[in-house]
Amino acid sequence: MRAPTERGSPMMANPRRIVYINSPSSDNPFQIRSSFLASLLQFFQKPLSLPFLLSIFLFLTWISIRFQRVSQFPTPSIGTAADWSVDDDMKVNLIRFSSGIPSQIAKDKRGWLLDPVSLALASGISGGAVSCASLHVGEIRPGKIRGNHRHHNCNETFVIWGAATKFRLENRKVADKGYAEVIIGADEVAVAASPGRTAHALVNIDPIRSTFFLGCQDSIINYNGTSNDYNVWKDL
Ligand SMILES: *[C@@H]1O[C@H](CO)[C@@H](O)[C@H](O)[C@H]1NC(C)=O
Ligand SMILES: *[C@@H]1O[C@H](CO)[C@@H](O)[C@H](O)[C@H]1NC(C)=O
Repeated sequence: MRAPTERGSPMMANPRRIVYINSPSSDNPFQIRSSFLASLLQFFQKPLSLPFLLSIFLFLTWISIRFQRVSQFPTPSIGTAADWSVDDDMKVNLIRFSSGIPSQIAKDKRGWLLDPVSLALASGISGGAVSCASLHVGEIRPGKIRGNHRHHNCNETFVIWGAATKFRLENRKVADKGYAEVIIGADEVAVAASPGRTAHALVNIDPIRSTFFLGCQDSIINYNGTSNDYNVWKDL
């Protein structure tokens, strides 16, 4: 009989509150908050709160590690923008576009779209494939390399996007090295052409993002024959 009366009666609710709040004026929101803090403190004094505290601690550690990592590697595109030059792009037979809107390849809010073969021709990138007998689309995860090979019997046109990526192309006109290379920013889309008998390599140098690429080749490559050279450069 006592319990229902207690719950229903405002007379009984008040003294109970006073015990928690430690003050007669229970309308003050600050005091309600301080009562909450008081019970929180009480909770933390109990051994029961230990796992709870530990998980908060772990969460904070995780946040701080993540934050350190992000500040350790500044956005790769910042470094690229400063290094970029049209002359270097010409040496690797490449043209780059901003993936943002507006740009030559992104005319509306849907994003970018391009035809690699016609865009390469229109941009003066020559020596690539003018028709695709074979198509490859793929991913290069951070730190990984694709290519670093030479096809003797096919010309190839690439589209590269998604991450900070190093593109290297054999170029006998470059003294000493015999190649040229550029870095494509994570916010850029590049179209590049590698004529037959020209070595090429794509290296993802991004700490987090994946590089994506499309390769259009004008003949079907025979990978078991002697028409390709592999591991051309040892320093990649
Ligand atoms: C590659 O391009 C060259 C010149 O641009 C052309 O003569 C050759 O036929 C092309 N290769 C293939 C397999 O189509
Ligand atoms: C390479 O493999 C193809 C089948 O995929 C075969 O027809 C061809 O004879 C092979 N060439 C060599 C040089 O082993």
